[in-house]
Amino acid sequence: MMRPIIISLSPNTERDDVLLAIKVLFSPWLWFSKRNIHLLEEKFPKMFSGNYKSFATNSGRSALYLILKSLGVKKDDEVLLQAFTCIAVPNAILWAGAIPVYVDIDETYNIDPKDLEKKITKKTKAIIVQHTFGILGDVGAIKRIARKNNLVLIEDCAHSLGATFNGKRVGTLGDVAFFSFGRDKILSSVFGGMILVKTQTQTEIQIQIQKMFNTLKWPNTLWGIQQLLHPIAFSVILPLYNSGLGKLILLILQKFHFLSRAVCEEEKRGEQPKTFPSRMPPALSVLAIKQLTKLERFNRHRREIAKLYFSKFANIVKVLPPDVSGAVWLRFPISINDAFGLISYAKRRGILFGDWYKSVVMPAENLSKVGYTFGTCPNAEKLSKMVVNLPTYPGMKVEEVLKVVEVVREWEGEEGKRGGKGNRGSRGMDGATEVV
Ligand SMILES: Cc1ncc(COP(=O)(O)O)c(C=O)c1O
Repeated sequence: MMRPIIISLSPNTERDDVLLAIKVLFSPWLWFSKRNIHLLEEKFPKMFSGNYKSFATNSGRSALYLILKSLGVKKDDEVLLQAFTCIAVPNAILWAGAIPVYVDIDETYNIDPKDLEKKITKKTKAIIVQHTFGILGDVGAIKRIARKNNLVLIEDCAHSLGATFNGKRVGTLGDVAFFSFGRDKILSSVFGGMILVKTQTQTEIQIQIQKMFNTLKWPNTLWGIQQLLHPIAFSVILPLYNSGLGKLILLILQKFHFLSRAVCEEEKRGEQPKTFPSRMPPALSVLAIKQLTKLERFNRHRREIAKLYFSKFANIVKVLPPDVSGAVWLRFPISINDAFGLISYAKRRGILFGDWYKSVVMPAENLSKVGYTFGTCPNAEKLSKMVVNLPTYPGMKVEEVLKVVEVVREWEGEEGKRGGKGNRGSRGMDGATEVV
């Protein structure tokens, strides 16, 4: 599929995914048949060594909500999560009735173990470890802290399916894990999620998850169909995007609800839409199964692109991410003085970079509604002003990577002349935000 250099907007969709979505759209029996759900739930755990069971949901946020309910979290229980995250994470905690408590991050964009220890109280029930951008943090230290304090360790693998830590796949490092098949994730069925839990010994978590899952509702069929339109629409929108026509079509389709948004307006206010939590619609499981066959190829490609960025940026960008082994590089984050300036500059050159997470919780209308207090995670606050995500999507070609490098180099050259005085105070004001 012809696409400009755009980090988001259906980055994992290939021609065969579009054809499959069309086929499913015109095969109504696939909207209801549970066969593909079962197939996906059978295939998914086979990627992990050991005995695991998986439960398909309509999103990562539904999966997290279900995990928290299965753990029996209740009012006033605290769940630790990192600042520098998606609003879907604290929202799931709030919907489950608990309190999100934010932990600062280190240079890996992941939980800082030192701050983690400080944030544990008698009310803490669980820790969520998020492998941001598919980069691994100090998981060993985090595990030790969880064990020492008798806390459940939940892995948020929304960005990291296929990544490894000391040779072990993420998803098997804590007590229970969840994944996302959202539109911008490692694999996409537009919306989708998965819970992964060990079955070697019948743990209480597994029993409770099964119980809760049995009561989980199916989403509205029309909602599933709306998601099927996504890859089809983007096969038309993307080639026209930079001419302006594609963007116009996108806005019209979103306005009239033919296309969904990754995070809806209610969620930005911390409210819970009816769609979450629910099971994965059968129609979307067909797309997810197809994408699952592409996992190794996609991740190999992302790693190759990351390698190229590392080599090309060695003397250009001052703050590169740590070159962590086992990472899968959903996105390649760089940290610079004037992130907003670079994103706007690239946009003028027809390239859309990413802005995860330009706020410690994103996209939030009001951080206090998701329980964040300014000053509690200074490093996350600082990095959110400086981070720019560079694309690594599966169809990205070497010449496109070089084009990205050139744009960053030009910008850094300009920045050098200005004496690096940029800042991101007004970020988002001129529309240089990521499109979702
Ligand atoms: C780090 C992180 N965790 C969890 C989620 C939730 O996943 P989903 O969009 O499938 O609900 C997201 C993204 O939305 C995310 O970025």
